[in-house]
Amino acid sequence: MEIIIQATPESATSVAARIVARLLREKPNAVLGLATGSTPLLLYRALIDMKLDWRRVTTFNLDEYIGLPQDHPQSYHSFMWENLFRHINIPKENVNIPDGNASDIPGCCAAYEQRIRDAGGIDLQILGIGTDGHIGFNEPTSSLASRTRIKTLTPQTRKDNARFFGSEAEVPGHVITMGIGTIMEARQNLMLAFGNNKARAIAEAVEGPITTINPASILQMHPDAKVCLDAEAAAQLK
Ligand code: F6R
Repeated sequence: MEIIIQATPESATSVAARIVARLLREKPNAVLGLATGSTPLLLYRALIDMKLDWRRVTTFNLDEYIGLPQDHPQSYHSFMWENLFRHINIPKENVNIPDGNASDIPGCCAAYEQRIRDAGGIDLQILGIGTDGHIGFNEPTSSLASRTRIKTLTPQTRKDNARFFGSEAEVPGHVITMGIGTIMEARQNLMLAFGNNKARAIAEAVEGPITTINPASILQMHPDAKVCLDAEAAAQLK
């Protein structure tokens, strides 16, 4: 794991944006894994401002809520189109996001894994981290070998995400998420974390034992994992 600590979320994001931009320039048909939530917003804004060529890029998002209409403002489909895709020249058919309204969820998850394989695997996966150490929506105790599947969100994650909805009760209980095994197969992983509320999860992931209790800790086993932190998220590192 390479730990990159910058004073602010903005400077940590600049480092991450340069890493993504370099990949897209070196490999115009790169396959990118994308995350949603608050953390990558600055990154997406920076990438939009860089006016990169996305025509041959393929993307796979980590996760999506189950049962939320695609056009719901808090669906990850809406999030991605609003915050990135509609501002860049990526063809719609190159965008992949799990279908949280599929009638056959297990079949949809298997097909998602197959699409990643058919695309040649993910070159670079962008990750945030939950306050409980989740990556994607692989909550604590998720199998470290897991693949794309349905997961139940923990009360903690529903509480954390209530800020995007009217209340905790409105946060869907279930999601489709890439598995930890899927994430570990990406050739590069690039995790971002900002703020005090991520400091404990980051310290455990980076310096603690590898454990399903903090799913992000598995990144210690990844041959090319970078973690971009602001000073607050790095505050509990030894
Ligand atoms: C979202 C995702 C999650 C988030 C995590 C942190 O696609 O995979 O793991 O990265 O919940 O969310 P924020 O960035 O909102 O703190």
